Amino acid sequence: MSELAPAGIDEMAFATAHRVLDLAEIARRNGVEVGKYYVGLGQRRMSVAAEDEDPVTMGAEAARAVLDRAGVAGVRTLVFATESGVDQSKSAGVYAHRLLGLPAHCRVVEIKQACYSATAALQFGLGLVAREPSEKVLVVASDIARYRLGSAGEPTQGAAAVAFLVGANPGLMAIEPVSGIFTAEIDDFWRPNGMSEALVDGKLSLEAYLGALEGAWGDYRSRGGAGFGQIDRFCYHQPFAKMALKAHARLHELAGSDAPAARLDAGLALSREVGNSYTASLYLGLLSLLENDPEDLSGRRVGLFAYGSGCVGEFLAGIVQPGYRTRLRPERTLESLVRRVPVGYEEYRILHELYERPAAQDYGTAAATDGPFRFAGVSGMARRYERRA
Ligand code: COA
Repeated sequence: MSELAPAGIDEMAFATAHRVLDLAEIARRNGVEVGKYYVGLGQRRMSVAAEDEDPVTMGAEAARAVLDRAGVAGVRTLVFATESGVDQSKSAGVYAHRLLGLPAHCRVVEIKQACYSATAALQFGLGLVAREPSEKVLVVASDIARYRLGSAGEPTQGAAAVAFLVGANPGLMAIEPVSGIFTAEIDDFWRPNGMSEALVDGKLSLEAYLGALEGAWGDYRSRGGAGFGQIDRFCYHQPFAKMALKAHARLHELAGSDAPAARLDAGLALSREVGNSYTASLYLGLLSLLENDPEDLSGRRVGLFAYGSGCVGEFLAGIVQPGYRTRLRPERTLESLVRRVPVGYEEYRILHELYERPAAQDYGTAAATDGPFRFAGVSGMARRYERRA
């Protein structure tokens, strides 16, 4: 059998919602010292969805940035990974497919397993590319993290999307074939049908995350995966920055390594600003690492740990490709952050409630954002999206 060409992540881009709330506003409201959020959770601000945006508009915006550079040639599959889907039947990806002007000869599907599904999408993409190396798979990971107002989860909300192309001879990161997997059914976090906010047993979710890390790492190592000391950087699913730090400390301990654990700072920068983005968050971490690490990471191995409550965990690794920096646009990422309009607690609360409008009732939305795509409302009980000129 001939050797397969390396495959992995070729292009990557980020988008976030157009409003931003400083966590000091929530701390004040909840009578909590702000240090608990800034230091205890490691989070600073969170993106908040305006009235005319949702996971589809954010995902399409990130994907458009990818396709503007890479073009659509070879893209025959779009996998939309989300746990904040906007319809029980129709894929969010089909809306994005039209907004992006993708060709009809493109299969589209939405996948879900809490914050894990973008990694399943990456694996599906790698499988398709191994079968036909001329094809590319567009993965869009997009989520709005929502918890009940006043709950312990409230400061760990957020909204963002990451889109990436999976292809042969990738420009950013070649994914190594070995991966470690761990699945166990548990009620740490879930969102029953008809609810727009997640239910969570916060403390149990921390334990479940760390248990899945242990299980996935053990599987990864037993299948010939690299040792802790052979991995130059680590990115973890980051519902809040402190969780990634806890995970890293646990892995360091599990590996029994004497070496100091590599610092995670560069990979945490972006999500400290946008908050939890559920399934996008690991790839937000990867983009943040590639854009912000001061060292040239060419040829370096990056370990990735995906965790989706419920729960599924996967540990995998990739090698950063020479010339990767020429593929990145950190100024675009920064622009997405600075153009967000700050809101105070009252406006945030109104937006939080507006998001819960009944799905099967017609309404229009005000044009509140200036992104390339907007959610125009519901008519004939179906969601309507517009593309700006
Ligand atoms: N200054 C600095 N740090 C402070 C502080 C202060 N004034 N007050 C508290 N802290 C620290 C605590 O010591 C703790 O740090 P530690 O975990 O390193 O010990 C941290 O802030 C959080 O405090 P805690 O009391 O544990 O918070 P909580 O119980 O109110 O909520 C979660 C924390 C994560 C359980 C909650 O945000 C949640 O449910 N989030 C959603 C679920 C989630 O994201 N799960 C992750 C796995 S998917």
